[in-house]
Amino acid sequence: MIWTILLLFHGILFFFFLSNRTRSKREPPLDKGVIPWLGHALDFGKDAAKFLTRMKLKHGDIFTVRVAGRYVTILLDPNSYDAVLQDTTSLDFTRYAQVLMDRIFNLKLPNHKPDSEKSIMRRHFQGESLTCLNHAMQNHLWTLLTFETTAQNQTNWKQDGLFGFCYSLLFRAGYLTLFGGEQKNNCMDAANVYMEYQKFDSLLIKMAHTTLKSGEKQTAGSVKQRLWELLAQAGLRDNSSLWLQSYRQHLKEEGADEETQRKAMLLQLWATQGNVGPATFWLLAFLLTHSEAMRAMRKEFNSATMPGTITLDPQQHTPVFDSVLEETLRLTAVPFITREVLQNKTLHMADGQEYDVRRGDRVCLFPFVSPQMDPEIHHEPEKFKYDRFLNADGTAKRDFFKGGRRLKYYTMPWGAGTNACVGKPFAIQSIRQFVFLVLSHLDIELSDPEAQVPAVDASRYGFGMLQPIEELQIRYKLRERPCVQ
Ligand code: HEM
Ligand SMILES: *[C@@H]1O[C@H](CO)[C@@H](O)[C@H](O)[C@H]1NC(C)=O
Ligand SMILES: *[C@@H]1O[C@H](CO)[C@@H](O)[C@H](O)[C@H]1NC(C)=O
Ligand SMILES: *[C@@H]1O[C@H](CO)[C@@H](O)[C@H](O)[C@H]1NC(C)=O
Repeated sequence: MIWTILLLFHGILFFFFLSNRTRSKREPPLDKGVIPWLGHALDFGKDAAKFLTRMKLKHGDIFTVRVAGRYVTILLDPNSYDAVLQDTTSLDFTRYAQVLMDRIFNLKLPNHKPDSEKSIMRRHFQGESLTCLNHAMQNHLWTLLTFETTAQNQTNWKQDGLFGFCYSLLFRAGYLTLFGGEQKNNCMDAANVYMEYQKFDSLLIKMAHTTLKSGEKQTAGSVKQRLWELLAQAGLRDNSSLWLQSYRQHLKEEGADEETQRKAMLLQLWATQGNVGPATFWLLAFLLTHSEAMRAMRKEFNSATMPGTITLDPQQHTPVFDSVLEETLRLTAVPFITREVLQNKTLHMADGQEYDVRRGDRVCLFPFVSPQMDPEIHHEPEKFKYDRFLNADGTAKRDFFKGGRRLKYYTMPWGAGTNACVGKPFAIQSIRQFVFLVLSHLDIELSDPEAQVPAVDASRYGFGMLQPIEELQIRYKLRERPCVQ
């Protein structure tokens, strides 16, 4: 009861403080919504893509909305994105990230130095180190996939949901690669972590929005507790990746205690394992429902196979795969790129317009609405076209235009600027390797040949890879003679 009163009191305070904000001439169009304080929070949370598309029609490429007491300026012109991405003095990335870190992972890092963390990660995810990680990942994928298919009666088809199939295999392989081997006498370690992680993931959006119901709060608490325990030794064993070992060492040097270190392990588990499985699901779902794309993919893999083996030649370019992946991510990778305004600032748009944004507000890019789903940039944007990112001569297509200008950002699944994805090359190689293994070693088909790619869970807009609202049923079995065709 006391909380309700306090909340109400806060709400009223905020209402008086903020509701009388008016737009000045040099500021973007202001849309406060009709609900005091909350503003557009409900629409935003329910389906951010739909809400922001509606606002874009009403106000254009830049506008300010009120969301739960905060004023957020949304910028939707990709030609102007650099005005936000390149300013790291007035616009800050870490503050909002820290808010989310606390809400989702209960994590407050003392003396947090994001730059040195990132440079540790960069060092371990390129060059020789990356080659080693790719090898380890490939071996784990292979072992898990053959175990999965031979554990059951080999001659029979096995039924499964494609999302669970992809996510579970890639998650476990990624966990073994980066977080380290099994604990003593417990070969179910990776599977346990995956199971607990699924429960955590299903509550993640509500944790971020602080909208957990009281029962869910308890579940979230105990699931996190279990994951912290399962991850207690991560980065301390010598079969954890060198990256995780250095990262854990770095946390110690920053003065993080044992408990904080475990919480940071869960954050890294999410950052490294949360996107690859869902991305691969969408990619295979599109291939299984688009026969022309599947044919092109098989043809390319066939010619990129090392002679006399069933392994992908790492030296070979795979432009068809690259285009299929780019197209998949264009439709299903939906990050928000958020910055906190540290001091009043003028945004210079590509068309010459200037807008002031106020200190304390947030600026947010939403590349899903534009460039990714912008009909001016991508013809029939809602359709999957496997060759959208290919030129007529089969090379990668990089020329896309809006308003007569060639775009630097024509799709942005990996984020951009200072906080762009550090794991991109590792992620791409993991997905390529997995898709190759599946297509060459399994007979795989839709259980219902007429089935369509399932709809997306709209509440996940803004949190990286989307997930489907329901499973896509498949059946598969190990091929007697592996081959790509
Ligand atoms: C399909 C797979 C993936 C997608 C679509 C993806 C996408 C992204 C995006 C959009 C961001 C920026 C987040 C933001 O703006 O706050 C990001 C950050 C990051 N990603 Fe990925 N990612 C993927 C896989 C991976 C993998 C496999 C790893 C590591 C092994 C990884 C490591 C990271 C890290 C450490 C950051 C944080 C960078 C920073 O904050 O400075 N990602 N990723
Ligand atoms: C596999 O399934 C086939 C057909 O259902 C059956 O005849 C055979 O005995 C099974 N083999 C094993 C090892 O279960
Ligand atoms: C990983 O290391 C731990 C402890 O150092 C050990 O108990 C475990 O057996 C190792 N796992 C593998 C797969 O090597
Ligand atoms: C920032 O802008 C707001 C609104 O235009 C103004 O009220 C405020 O005084 C400015 N602050 C500074 C430090 O210039």
